[in-house]
Amino acid sequence: MINRIVKLTFKDEYIQAFKIHFETVKSKITNNTGCEKVTLLQDANNPNVFFTYSLWLSEKHLDNYRNTEFFNKIWSKVKINFSEKPQVWTTSKISSQDNTPSNSLEHPILFGNSDTLLNKFLQNKLYASVFILVDENTENFCLPVIKQILNKKNINVIKINSGEINKNLNTCQQIWKQLIEAKANRNSLLINLGGGVIGDMGGFCASCYKRGIDFLQIPTTLLSQVDASVGGKLGIDFMGLKNVIGQFKNPQTVIIDPNFLNTLPFEEIRSGYAEMLKHALIHNKNTWNKLAISNLKTINYNQLLNSIKESVQIKAEIVDIDPFEKNIRKKLNLGHTIGHAVETYFLNKDKPILHGEAVAYGIVAEANIAVQKGILHKEVYLEIKNSINNIYDKIIIPNNALEEIIHHCYNDKKNEKKEINASLIKDIGEILINQIISEKEIKSAILQLNEN
Ligand SMILES: NC(=O)c1ccc[n+]([C@@H]2O[C@H](COP(=O)([O-])OP(=O)(O)OC[C@H]3O[C@@H](n4cnc5c(N)ncnc54)[C@H](O)[C@@H]3O)[C@@H](O)[C@H]2O)c1
Ligand SMILES: [Zn+2]
Repeated sequence: MINRIVKLTFKDEYIQAFKIHFETVKSKITNNTGCEKVTLLQDANNPNVFFTYSLWLSEKHLDNYRNTEFFNKIWSKVKINFSEKPQVWTTSKISSQDNTPSNSLEHPILFGNSDTLLNKFLQNKLYASVFILVDENTENFCLPVIKQILNKKNINVIKINSGEINKNLNTCQQIWKQLIEAKANRNSLLINLGGGVIGDMGGFCASCYKRGIDFLQIPTTLLSQVDASVGGKLGIDFMGLKNVIGQFKNPQTVIIDPNFLNTLPFEEIRSGYAEMLKHALIHNKNTWNKLAISNLKTINYNQLLNSIKESVQIKAEIVDIDPFEKNIRKKLNLGHTIGHAVETYFLNKDKPILHGEAVAYGIVAEANIAVQKGILHKEVYLEIKNSINNIYDKIIIPNNALEEIIHHCYNDKKNEKKEINASLIKDIGEILINQIISEKEIKSAILQLNEN
């Protein structure tokens, strides 16, 4: 099992040389170093920003990354072309349940039985008190699953009301109040057991409480497992603006237990699946083909589990290189410029649609714009559109809503100037960031999607 990514990042002046020598260097690195795979990561739009190799280590070489000798060995193999040593850092590990690390440098993402994994985590750490944040659904369906911890001392459950509508300062105040009343101190832990709302808000509350206490993410929806719990973005909504107050901070650990999905309504699974489709489009044709042809209603458990792991890996790899969304993390905004605008429009009309449904729509609408701009081939667009239409219900945007949607696009926090900015698809596996899209292109895309 390949379960750790180590990265070597080189300064921009070496990029051209690296491109030329990649194949040679790759085989040199994989020869006798324990690396099973070497992948090349760089920003397609900003090839001059940086350049990174991902080294995928096998289980038996797990400890190599702490070992300077290991890097010297690798370095001795690549330095024929370069004079300066690369910066080296390790990133979040994607590991299996029998591989809980005891003193990892970065936070791990663990897959498996949450009861066992959580118990192991707590055995390795001594917390003064432990708090579990739930909503009424996760209290009902998910809390009983982590049963071993519930028998322990100093465990407190904090319950809030579910839903995006409660992802606000009022709820944060309730959480902080309960932490204070139960005398949570700097050595307490908050476990966020729930979907993206619980994860974003609980993480935010933990990161502010007494200037920051440890927190764990145990995502219980598909969307939060493949997207929200990975990448350290925390936050709440304020004054009608989504996620406008928040920060970046990583949890101690993310525990992904696919068994939680058994109680999740189908619509929520389908919503999370949109982010998986997005990751696949960003990644490559192989991943896309696997997901696009799957019948979500009959998908088998193992297939879904493997796809979840792959999806998390794609996101983790991107956010590890660009944690603060300066460049390639923007690829993850694919489908989200129009998706968010459409989501906000329906929310304001009191006919909310799920985030993933809006994102699926946004992916197709923005791909349509990519065709209008001559960036994307029409056949690829049709393939994306047909696959998404097979999974999601049709969304019709009334003509008189176009101005409002454009207005929401202008308000998107990704815009840098007074223009609408999007990440557009050039081909499956190739995303262009920082693309300006016009009102005319957006309107034309929406009208075309209304037609068929
Ligand atoms: N931080 C990030 O990078 C990031 C990325 C994407 C989305 N998000 C945020 O995530 C949020 C959406 O997350 P979500 O889609 O998980 O929604 P959610 O948290 O509202 O959960 C959806 C519903 O499912 C219920 N639920 C959760 N787990 C369940 C289970 N196992 N069985 C039955 N019901 C269960 C919840 O109570 C809720 O009613 C948004 O606020 C969005 O802004 C954050
Ligand atoms: Zn999203």
